[in-house]
Amino acid sequence: MTDSEFEFATRAIHAGQAPDPSTGAIMTPVFQSSTFVQESPGKHKGYEYARTQNPTRKALEENLASLEAASAGICFSSGCAAANAMMMSFGPGDHFIVADDVYGGTFRIFDKVMRRFGQEFDYADLRKISELDRLRKQNTKMIWLESPTNPLLKIFDIKRISQWAKEHGILVLVDNTFMSPALQNPLLLGADFVLHSTTKYIGGHSDVVGGFIGTNLPDWAEKLRFLQNTLGGVPAPWDCFLCLRGSKTLALRMAQHSKNALEIAKRLERHPKVERVMYPGLESHPDFQVASQQMKDFGGMLSFVLKSNLQGATSFLESTKIFSLAESLGGVESLIEHPAIMTHASIPREMREKIGVSDSLIRLSVGIEALEDLWKDLDQAFEKVK
Ligand SMILES: Cc1ncc(COP(=O)(O)O)c(C=O)c1O
Repeated sequence: MTDSEFEFATRAIHAGQAPDPSTGAIMTPVFQSSTFVQESPGKHKGYEYARTQNPTRKALEENLASLEAASAGICFSSGCAAANAMMMSFGPGDHFIVADDVYGGTFRIFDKVMRRFGQEFDYADLRKISELDRLRKQNTKMIWLESPTNPLLKIFDIKRISQWAKEHGILVLVDNTFMSPALQNPLLLGADFVLHSTTKYIGGHSDVVGGFIGTNLPDWAEKLRFLQNTLGGVPAPWDCFLCLRGSKTLALRMAQHSKNALEIAKRLERHPKVERVMYPGLESHPDFQVASQQMKDFGGMLSFVLKSNLQGATSFLESTKIFSLAESLGGVESLIEHPAIMTHASIPREMREKIGVSDSLIRLSVGIEALEDLWKDLDQAFEKVK
């Protein structure tokens, strides 16, 4: 089952997976085998060597491709390995326009690795389409964006950006990690590639690291498959199994993440120690209209600025008990973090401050625990902020 005849929640459970023909096992087995026996040289069942093909990985690739309305899905050992393969499919001298608020590790790939190989990057707030006209060059190959952004939860109009890009023969990649395929499908909005750190909502239980790229462009799918095998950043079969298991409950989990996060965002907005809340589901969010059009719900990620300094933020972060102080996001459990010191430290201070990643900015990954327990936890932590 890979077509759109079924709704999301059904595809999440069944796409890419059929009962194992040799045993009837309903769950796709973990094919923990590095090589596959051939009947005669070159005559095999579609599998030769596990870096090249693996049945558990194939099931996950077909499952996620179906959820993202992609004709092809390619899985990697991490979101960063997926980003690396994507960039390696371009050459030296190619130019990229990047939304100015991307995950720190993605910025690090561009700035510390790809630039050394002659690729060029310009960063801009892509809420203004005029920025694309300003930055476009003869050699511009792709626009790379996250929406919502990490950690400022800005929303970019994927449809508009993709239309502009098509007119200029430029590709668009959307890192859809924050939304998951349950809440937003960038390919249906006109993007050419969708990327995930499956470590986050798709895995959903903070027990796996993985990455994914989906596309409807057959020649690019071919290139990415070639690089998956050639560079070798493939996910282990067990990790594919964990992501497949996560994907089955994605629709349910995202609904609960979104419900909890919206209520917490509303309460934070009214809190006297909070200066500003960034959550795309709040009507006060500057991009609320675009968010409502392109997202099915608003997700579990939110950031807020404390009316305090680094010391106040540190006291807050040290005081929560259910919200664990940790990087990453998207698991069933709630996490809290300090972007400037933790996830976004690889972005230079001047650039961080320019885009608003200040010392009093706090990011929450709101889990699916009971709402009132989560709120009580935040409430008692506010009391520790002087
Ligand atoms: C939005 C986003 N994209 C990509 C990545 C990289 O993924 P991974 O950690 O699986 O390499 C992350 C990691 O936090 C992320 O938050």
